[in-house]
Amino acid sequence: MKVLIVGGGGREHAIACAVAKSPRVDRIYCAPGNAGIAEIAECVDIKVMEFDEIARFAKRNKIDLVIVGPDDPLAGGIVDVLQNAGLKVFGPEEKAAILEGSKAFSKDLMKKYDIPTAAYETFDDPKKALAYLEKAKMPIVLKADGLALGKGVLICNTLEEAKDGVKEIMLDKKFGTAGNRMVIEEYMTGREVSVLTFCDGKTIKVMSSAQDHKRAGDGDTGLNTGGMGTFSPSPFYTKKIDEYCRKYIFKPTVEAMAKEGRPFKGVIFFGLMLTEDGPKVLEYNARFGDPEAQVVLPRMKNDIIDVMEACVDGTLGKIKLEFEDNAAVCVMLASKGYPGKYDRGFVINGLEEFKDKDGYFVFHSGTKKTGKGVVTNGGRVLGVTAKGATLKEARENAYKATEWIDFENKYMRHDIGKAIDEA
Ligand code: AMP
Ligand code: GLY
Repeated sequence: MKVLIVGGGGREHAIACAVAKSPRVDRIYCAPGNAGIAEIAECVDIKVMEFDEIARFAKRNKIDLVIVGPDDPLAGGIVDVLQNAGLKVFGPEEKAAILEGSKAFSKDLMKKYDIPTAAYETFDDPKKALAYLEKAKMPIVLKADGLALGKGVLICNTLEEAKDGVKEIMLDKKFGTAGNRMVIEEYMTGREVSVLTFCDGKTIKVMSSAQDHKRAGDGDTGLNTGGMGTFSPSPFYTKKIDEYCRKYIFKPTVEAMAKEGRPFKGVIFFGLMLTEDGPKVLEYNARFGDPEAQVVLPRMKNDIIDVMEACVDGTLGKIKLEFEDNAAVCVMLASKGYPGKYDRGFVINGLEEFKDKDGYFVFHSGTKKTGKGVVTNGGRVLGVTAKGATLKEARENAYKATEWIDFENKYMRHDIGKAIDEA
């Protein structure tokens, strides 16, 4: 069969590698893809928000399954457009992708169905938000309602900071229309865990857990990024916690979406905080995490096409998800300056080191093929990933592999997976 993947980052590279392993797949296309994906797929120069172009390409090339990676096209309704063109698509329809696309929607859903999350209020009027803050306990968390490249969340320690935050989000529109509405919520403490799941509208199957490192600098300092590294599984996500989450968070979420007439088909990625009062939902995402996919998918034993088709067809109940009994660590190699200003276009050396090395992967996030060779083309450049029998071994392997790669302005965190030592 023929598969088209929509997206062009490390997550889509990890998805493409999983798809390439399926004996059912003859041909993979990716729009727009990147230099790494081009090694295993035919990259097509169409941007992820060009829905009609993607639909035309998929029809013309008789694509059997389209897989959508990123949040923006999902929230924008790409799945509906492709389905209306008669295509089979893995990913939630617009009315279900709102689970990630609107924080106010997701918080109201959790409140209505008693799904554990931080206490909150929603505001359309900045004056009311400011008045609410006067009586609120600090620290407090401000969230722009809509998608904001993962940057629309402000943690404020003082009333002054919080007031400035409301101004930035609702008046200065720092995150554009995403800030027309905002959520103000209780600050929670605990360990953060990412749990990715497959859903077919009624059934939910849980993948192996992971942990991300969102801040740019060592010791969780600096600005928030898309993610500087991950490990899987999380030793803090115990069997007991998993049982609790399945019963009180995962199943109720899928059932709630179905009851609301928004059956969710695709990946729900639960951002959880393991608080003293039990696990609570920080956020929902309607897609694989990036770089969570880079550590979870290489450990999945199932044929990803079987699982994705079961999600689309509503037969996920028949699938038994299986993961290898090992661990993986991904260290993101970024461009110095990210998530702020950075330069691009530097030649990357050492990529060939990963060829034919079992258990080592170099997932491309922001790269481009040029006459000079493969060059840097983004803030996050490469997700260097390695497996190991244990988390510690995987971490050692991943850091060893980061030394194989060289490019000007190469930047990484040196403490990815440090938490493993506290487990
Ligand atoms: P989100 O995009 O909602 O996951 O938020 C980004 C990051 O902000 C999360 O990964 C957490 O580290 C932090 N965060 C979000 N909500 C809260 C909260 N209620 N309490 C503490 N930290 C939070
Ligand atoms: N790594 C976090 C995310 O994909 O949202």
